[in-house]
Amino acid sequence: MKKQSIAVLCSGGDGPGMNAAIRSVVRTAYSLNLDVYGIYKGFEGLLDKSIVHLDLSSVGNIIQRGGTVIYSSRSLRFMEPSYRFEAAAFLQQLGALGLIVIGGNGSFNGAHLLHREHGIPVACIPGTIDNDIDGTELSVGFDTALNTAVEAIDKIRDTATSHDRSFLVEVMGRSSGMIAITVAIATGAEAVIFPDREVDLATVAANVKRGVARGKKSSIIIVAEGEKEGLGHLYQQQLKDHYQMDAKLCILGHIQRGGNPSARDRFIGSLMGNMAVQALVDGEVAVATVVRDGKYQIAPLVECLGKRNETEHKLMELLNTLAL
Ligand code: F6P
Repeated sequence: MKKQSIAVLCSGGDGPGMNAAIRSVVRTAYSLNLDVYGIYKGFEGLLDKSIVHLDLSSVGNIIQRGGTVIYSSRSLRFMEPSYRFEAAAFLQQLGALGLIVIGGNGSFNGAHLLHREHGIPVACIPGTIDNDIDGTELSVGFDTALNTAVEAIDKIRDTATSHDRSFLVEVMGRSSGMIAITVAIATGAEAVIFPDREVDLATVAANVKRGVARGKKSSIIIVAEGEKEGLGHLYQQQLKDHYQMDAKLCILGHIQRGGNPSARDRFIGSLMGNMAVQALVDGEVAVATVVRDGKYQIAPLVECLGKRNETEHKLMELLNTLAL
């Protein structure tokens, strides 16, 4: 009889720690006598039938590497029902017990549709540097991205202080300010701007000027990237035109997505990979691995399909208190 198998893919923006999760999926599956197919380039690989048999040693020496060894993509085709039909047929043909999807909001929604429309059992692992998935406090990749941004901003602070300068630093997060507010607090930034809320540059400028008046030698304003490209440049110009503030701009961009995963991301990836396989073996059909109140658990996938976008605004009060 053919050995049972599971399939695993990474989808959406990659994040450090995804390799730790893949390694854990493979090693756990083998310990339970299951084969593993890695699907290349996310949902695209299901449509192109682009797969690799992942054996025990294929995931050796990857836990410390950023990116994902099975690659990722944002699949436009998968948004169409006819392509999802093809993807499901391919998984059925493979004889996979279920599919493990490592990714963010869009990937979770894709997995949900695959299950709802075609009955494919899915287990999702939150993997996004944005940490904006509803129903979980943490996602794989967030911690490393924070550390990368913090290290860069500390360096900017050094040169800013030497020259009595203000900097706008744009961090990632197209529709989430979680990276922005967390690094703002962790770097002692003077202000943070979330483009998805009304931007109050007058208050930002006033806060910076108040600090300068009491002798601050540098100011850092963190800008969450937002949906529209070029917001950092726009705010830089507006601060100059309307508030006579000459701030330098530094866009951190994709360096936040790469690099060796932190210990925490390796740990979360390892734990969640193990839990996801176990969940499929236990007969779960549409679940996600989550962290709630600090506890790692399995939750219904439907509880994780929204965008968590309130947390960061609650942290604003802390930032304002500390940035006085
Ligand atoms: O993966 C999340 C993320 O890094 C967001 O923070 C960012 O806005 C987006 O992906 C960038 O995506 P891409 O690399 O496809 O331009």
